[in-house]
Amino acid sequence: MQNIKLTIDKAFGFVSEEAVAGYETKVAAANAALHNGTGKGSDFLGWLNLPSSIDEAHLADVENTAQILRENCEVVIVIGIGGSYLGAKAVIDALSNSFDWLQTERKAPVVVYAGQNIGEDYLYELQEMLQNKKFGIISISKSGTTTEPALAFRLLKTQLEEQQGKEAAQKLIVAVTDKSRGALRTLATQEGYKTYIIEDNIGGRYSVLSPVGLLPMAVAGFDIRQFVSGAVSMETLCGTETAFEENPAAIYAAVRNELYKAGKKIEILVNFHPKLHFIGEWWKQLYGESEGKDNVGIFPASVDFTSDLHSMGQWIQEGERTIFETVISIQSSNYTKTVPTDAANLDGLNFLAGKRVDEVNKMAELGTMIAHIDGGVPNLKIELPALNEFYLGQLLYFFEKACGISGYILGVNPFDQPGVEAYKKNMFALLDKPGFEAESAAIKARI
Ligand code: PA5
Repeated sequence: MQNIKLTIDKAFGFVSEEAVAGYETKVAAANAALHNGTGKGSDFLGWLNLPSSIDEAHLADVENTAQILRENCEVVIVIGIGGSYLGAKAVIDALSNSFDWLQTERKAPVVVYAGQNIGEDYLYELQEMLQNKKFGIISISKSGTTTEPALAFRLLKTQLEEQQGKEAAQKLIVAVTDKSRGALRTLATQEGYKTYIIEDNIGGRYSVLSPVGLLPMAVAGFDIRQFVSGAVSMETLCGTETAFEENPAAIYAAVRNELYKAGKKIEILVNFHPKLHFIGEWWKQLYGESEGKDNVGIFPASVDFTSDLHSMGQWIQEGERTIFETVISIQSSNYTKTVPTDAANLDGLNFLAGKRVDEVNKMAELGTMIAHIDGGVPNLKIELPALNEFYLGQLLYFFEKACGISGYILGVNPFDQPGVEAYKKNMFALLDKPGFEAESAAIKARI
C-alpha cells in the first residue's frame, strides 16, 4: 500500500518555504507535547494511539454486532450529533454507491441518521418511512445527555418497541456511550442493550476510530480492519520519530499556521467527488471546534467541485483574498466511463470523445488550481491513491494528528469546546428546563 500524499508547493509564493521550514522546532514540541501528555487538554488524548491499540477481539466483537443488525434490519438508524455521527457518515457516504438507497436488492441495511437536528418534519418523515420496516438503532452519545439525540432516541425507541415488542426491540438497539455516566448508560443498563464504551479520554470529534465510527461502518458493509490498518500506518508516519519534512501532519500544521499568519483566515476543503461531501463536514467540525476559540482560529469551510464552482467559484476566484484551499484529490476512480462519439456533435463535445470522464474531472481540478493560484488562493493538495477504507483511515487519522499539532502551535486547547454550551444554556432556559429558573427569567426579559 502507498500513503496519502500532501503537496504544499503551490502555497509558496504566498508564504515562503523557509518560513514553513522554520516551524520544525515548534511542530516537534507540539508533537512531543501530545505524546508526553504535557499540553493543553491532555486528558483527551485517547485518540492518539487508538488505531494501534485496537485488538482483534474488539474488531471481531464490533463485526459480530454489526452482523446481527445486518441480518435483522432493513434500516439501521445511527442516532448522534457532531462527533457522534459525522465520522461514520463521512466514511459510509464516501464508500457507498451514490444511488445505494434506490437499490431494491440490498446486501446491507440502509444506514440513515437521526438526532443530528431537531427538525420536526425530518423526524416525522423518518418515522413514517420506518412504519413497515424492520429497523434497528445505534444510539451514540458520549455524554448520554445531549438533547438532539436523546429526543430522537425517545421517539424511535418507542416506535421500535411498538412495532417489534419490547423484548425484540432490546436486541435491535445498541448504545455507544460513556462507561458509567449519563442517561443513555443508565437506560442501556436497565434495558440490557448491547453497549460499547467511548473512553473518557476520547472527545467526540476524535472518535471515528472508536465504535462510534467503526460500528456503523461495519453495519454498512465496509471493511473496518482496512480502515483501522490505514489509520495505524498514519499513526506511525505522523509520530515523533518521523523527520519534519517526512511527516504530513507536521507539514500541514506548519503551513496552515503560516498561511493564517499571512492573513489567510479561511480554509476551504475542496473535493471533486460528491461522495466526499461529508468528509468536508467531518473536517469542519474537527478543525472548527478544535481551533476556533480564544478569538483566534482559521474558519473551516468546504466546497464540492465542480458543482460549487458554479456558485462559490466566483467568491473564491475574486472575493476578499483571505482564503486558501486544501484539495482532496483521488488519483484513480473505481470505475471507468468514457465519453462517446456523436456523429452530429451538436453539443460540440466530440473533442472529449474517447476520454475518460475522470480525465475531464482531473483537468477541471488542474485548471481550477491554476486559476485559483493566479487569483491569489494558495493551494494545498492531499492525494489519495484510491477511494477505499485504507486510505480513508489514513486521511482521517492524518487530519486528527495535524489538528492536535496545529492547535498547539496556535496556542489553544484543541480538545475542548466551551463555546458549544452557550446555545444549550439559552435553549434550556427558554424551554423552562428544571434547574434553569434564573437563566429562564433573565433570557425571557430580553425577548
Ligand atoms: O466533538 C464533540 O465533542 C461534540 O461534537 C460531540 O460529539 C457532540 O456534541 C455530541 O456529544 P455527545 O456524544 O455527548 O452526545
